[in-house]
Amino acid sequence: MTLTKSSVIEILKGVIFFAKGDNIVDLGMLDELEVTEAAIKFRLVFPKLGEPAENIVMNAATKALREAFGEEIKIDITPIAEKDKGRGPLAGVKHIIAVASGKGGVGKSTVAANLAIALARSGSQVGLVDADIYGPSVPMMFGTENQQPGVFEREGKPVIVPIEKYGIKLLSIGYFVDTDKPLIWRGPMATSALNQLLSDADWGVLDFLVIDLPPGTGDIQLTLAQSYSVSGAVIVTTPQKVAFADVKRAANMFKQEKLTIPILGLIENMAYFTPSDMPDKKYLIFGEGHGEAFAQELGIPLLGQIPIVEKIASSGDSGSPIALDEQSPIAKAFDEIAATIKTKFN
Ligand SMILES: Nc1ncnc2c1ncn2[C@@H]1O[C@H](COP(=O)(O)OP(=O)(O)O)[C@@H](O)[C@H]1O
Ligand SMILES: [Mg+2]
Repeated sequence: MTLTKSSVIEILKGVIFFAKGDNIVDLGMLDELEVTEAAIKFRLVFPKLGEPAENIVMNAATKALREAFGEEIKIDITPIAEKDKGRGPLAGVKHIIAVASGKGGVGKSTVAANLAIALARSGSQVGLVDADIYGPSVPMMFGTENQQPGVFEREGKPVIVPIEKYGIKLLSIGYFVDTDKPLIWRGPMATSALNQLLSDADWGVLDFLVIDLPPGTGDIQLTLAQSYSVSGAVIVTTPQKVAFADVKRAANMFKQEKLTIPILGLIENMAYFTPSDMPDKKYLIFGEGHGEAFAQELGIPLLGQIPIVEKIASSGDSGSPIALDEQSPIAKAFDEIAATIKTKFN
């Protein structure tokens, strides 16, 4: 095969980046390609560096080029991270913050929504992705069940326009499917749904993109950790000891050497009960000090404690999360958590 730029591109189209399910050329990973008589030089733009996929792709590219153009050819490939290149679908997003939990029903979505609102109130540009594709709740929590994101075309590919509410850009699988029906996803479908919500959307410029993850440690968490540059994870738990085994598993997943997403801290939700007519009362119905003990055992900071308050549930159900009510003590608790998170990125 004659060595030209276009023949090199043709060969590289045969190299697949499995995390995104397409070839490196169509994914836009190929950059600054230079071809001379006996040498090929280019950069490959990865979502993040240091993942096993990096070597696999580089080796596959080298092998394919040598097979096509001969063993003597000089090949110089430099891997580069999307954020250093200053592009990629999420290039305008400064920080991705994942909200995770060991179990469902602990208030992860409630925390994600209220945290997004508190971050926005502090002056940041904020987006919220409902990556809990098995049980989406952002449409209801933001009173946007009947809305549908717009779609336009850019370079022949559809681009989703997030819905905006309370100054926050929102996307959820719930905007695209009938949430009354059970959502059954096989692994690859789940991964592709996540990639669409993140990579095929027009997020523009954001300081924080908060991600409401499904509970536990599945495909979605793995894809997020491996294919995106996540700045930090917040872990939500309730005070019951039975929940802790799951929390630990979730925390340990982010600590794995190959994923290394920094854990920003733990949020203890439903830490105590406060009746709405006695806002100063604290009933420690699960006992005291569990949040601190969990955080200590995991070696991470306790970012905040949120009480059980009826208004938290009713406000979430009615589409206006409690943090919107600036005067409420809960809003103040989320403001503090948001401020603590922001200090970690200054
Ligand atoms: N601190 C709280 N006080 C009262 N109700 C809460 C609190 N946190 C969450 N809830 C309610 O508990 C239910 C589960 O919360 P959700 O955020 O959907 O959990 P998850 O996303 O972890 O499954 C929801 O109905 C929510 O409104
Ligand atoms: Mg949820």
